[in-house]
Amino acid sequence: MFDCVAVVGATGAVGLEFLALLEQRGLPAKKVRLLASARSAGKRIPLKGNELTVEELGPDSFNGVDLAFFSAGGGISKQYAPIAAAAGCVVVDNSSAFRMDPATPLVVPEVNPEDVKAHKGVIANPNCSTIIMVVPVWPLHRANPVKRMVVSTYQAASGAGQAAMNELEQQTRDVLDGKPAQPKLMPFQYAFNLFSHNSDLYENGYNTEEMKMVNETRKMFHTEAINIAATCVRVPVMRAHSESINLEFTNPITPDEVRAILKDAPGVKIVDQRSPQHFPMPIEASGQDDVLVGRIRQDISRNDNRGIEMFIAGDQLRKGAALNGIQIAELL
Ligand code: A2P
Repeated sequence: MFDCVAVVGATGAVGLEFLALLEQRGLPAKKVRLLASARSAGKRIPLKGNELTVEELGPDSFNGVDLAFFSAGGGISKQYAPIAAAAGCVVVDNSSAFRMDPATPLVVPEVNPEDVKAHKGVIANPNCSTIIMVVPVWPLHRANPVKRMVVSTYQAASGAGQAAMNELEQQTRDVLDGKPAQPKLMPFQYAFNLFSHNSDLYENGYNTEEMKMVNETRKMFHTEAINIAATCVRVPVMRAHSESINLEFTNPITPDEVRAILKDAPGVKIVDQRSPQHFPMPIEASGQDDVLVGRIRQDISRNDNRGIEMFIAGDQLRKGAALNGIQIAELL
């Protein structure tokens, strides 16, 4: 039983999902404290039949708090996670601030639950596209090591927070009303369009989101011997990311073997009906805990039967963020 659980960024898209999951999964906590910016201080949010008041985040916010879930951006995590940890609180951080820090475990409970034990006050929640990808890829990798993975993402607005979801909705209304779309948070028109993920580019031409998928996967799989290339794209979907994944295995593997492994894999639901065609869709993944996996087929570009293609969809706010954080807390 936790004495007090704090949610930093409680008014945001992930924070609100975290609160919904706290209630649904019954994480044992005597008290819950909601923290956000001064803009939201005093706002009331319903939880477990009560109304809790949002407090402004400050250096004293973590006294008496034993678990804190951070989802208010990397800057806030860098500033306040060390303060919280020094106050004796375990931080589950949804930002990218500590993910690649060698001293901080990066955990997806279906993949590397044992890594939580090594924490020194902070446990990092991986990037949402990475989490959704590794849930089905890990059990396959354990059965037949993956040598190379090529992934393309179709990422929802929810990944950029509540403001991005509002922007997609507003732009859609404006365009349908014959008005120009007005990009604010997003760099380009989002409604009825798609564009390369709006994170910074590295010298190699890959963006930060793509390199997170490469580096975070290697960290959690505890191997550098897996080659990964990603192309990340934002699509005008409100919630739940989809991904096309091409896998090259060490040994030959058939689609039936993949299905047999994934049938019993935790956090995976196979949606792979060829007639009538019913495959993973973001609208069906939304609000679900499981990552939907389908379009499982042999890669016909190879003649050695070591390639598999699949298409997945997973709720970015849930397994891609808040649910994974709650599952980490459950491990603790
Ligand atoms: P607020 O609503 O007060 O701005 P999202 O990812 O959906 O954009 O949500 C971001 C979350 O981070 C919100 O809860 C937001 O609170 C919170 N946040 C943003 N800036 C700060 C800050 N300076 N201090 C505390 N919380 C912040």
